[in-house]
Amino acid sequence: MSDGSPIMTLDVGALRAEFPILSRDAYGKRLVYLDSAASAQKPRAVIDAMSHAMEHSYANVHRGLHLLSNEATAAFEEARKTAAAFINAASPDEIVFTTGGTDAFNLVSYALGVNEIGEGDEIILSLAEHHSNIVPWHLLRERKGAVIKWLDISDDGEIDLDVYRALFTSKTKLVAISHMSNVLGAPTPAKELASIAHEHGAKILFDGCQAGVHGAVDVRDIDCDFYVMTGHKLYGPTGIGVLYGKKSVLEGMPPFKGGGEMIHVVTTEAVTYNDPPHRFEAGTPPILEAIGLGAALTWMKEKGVDAIAAHEARLKDHALEELAKLNFVRVYGRAPGKAPIIAFTVDGAHPHDISAILDRTGVAVRAGHHCAQPLMKRLGVDATARASFAAYNTHDDVEALISGLHKTHSMLS
Ligand SMILES: Cc1ncc(COP(=O)(O)O)c(C=O)c1O
Repeated sequence: MSDGSPIMTLDVGALRAEFPILSRDAYGKRLVYLDSAASAQKPRAVIDAMSHAMEHSYANVHRGLHLLSNEATAAFEEARKTAAAFINAASPDEIVFTTGGTDAFNLVSYALGVNEIGEGDEIILSLAEHHSNIVPWHLLRERKGAVIKWLDISDDGEIDLDVYRALFTSKTKLVAISHMSNVLGAPTPAKELASIAHEHGAKILFDGCQAGVHGAVDVRDIDCDFYVMTGHKLYGPTGIGVLYGKKSVLEGMPPFKGGGEMIHVVTTEAVTYNDPPHRFEAGTPPILEAIGLGAALTWMKEKGVDAIAAHEARLKDHALEELAKLNFVRVYGRAPGKAPIIAFTVDGAHPHDISAILDRTGVAVRAGHHCAQPLMKRLGVDATARASFAAYNTHDDVEALISGLHKTHSMLS
């Protein structure tokens, strides 16, 4: 997932200084934040962009005819252009701002489901999906009698394209699949998955909530119908997500929510709907959050998406090498191109205890089922710990994780 331009190098020391939160401590120890797959920290550029908007150019968007509203509208729509360019969408009109990843999946499940998915129609999901890309399809199953077909994955999270191809029937309407697992870090072969879906007349939606953070995404090259990203993992604020939809596909969908902004005309008898993307943005949108997301994506581009990915890959390789030396640790997922997301267990210790003990050493990792219970079942575990790395992590952070794990093991064994 490279954008083809020469890879810049990252000055990680200078970059860390851009994240105010990284200068705080945790229980008097250096904060080692290894939970970016859950939510990334925010650089000064994002904080400043949102504060500036609140202090200088804030008003509601689109419907005002005054200076502040026009400035806020321009900044909001500029963020849409930035998001479109970030994933190489053909037009900003293909970018719907949502309140996050979960909201985007629910939007597609509802709006596509109205006309295009009926009783007995099939939706393919992989066993590695996040609940936010599972439950909306269960809702459609309950609402309309759609059938969910499950694509198995290897222990490392890889997909066998023959197994995938064999799931399609004349009833398959949609594939909804992650572009990168939030547990195993495994990337999926997006172009091939999309081409096979289209050969069978099905649409395809990618969950890019993790993939969008760890490498360049080109929705036109993938040729997907939908692509979902979430702001808070992209160094941006919470409360904002990006739903990319091909123009022709969005145009064919009815609204998800009703309210202001998504209409052409409302009378006492009837309503006509606005064109996409506004058809899907009922009510006052997350204005400040969109501006913050635009600043985050611009920040990522300035640092170099490929440079961030290369730095993260080195950290991941280092962490995997060091973890392999610990005979009491089991790592889940070693697919080629694995993202810096490392799920692991420690012999004789519950993942919650691992996380709690690491926390007291200043190391923040996540533990639990990671909103991926079907995957946990497939892996034969109830929960794992998970260390995830971002642009601001360092090799010292890897060392801190390893020494924390030694301590955890000696305390619990
Ligand atoms: C792979 C994946 N998909 C979807 C989501 C949900 O995104 P959001 O938190 O924006 O609803 C997450 C968040 O953890 C995720 O990791």
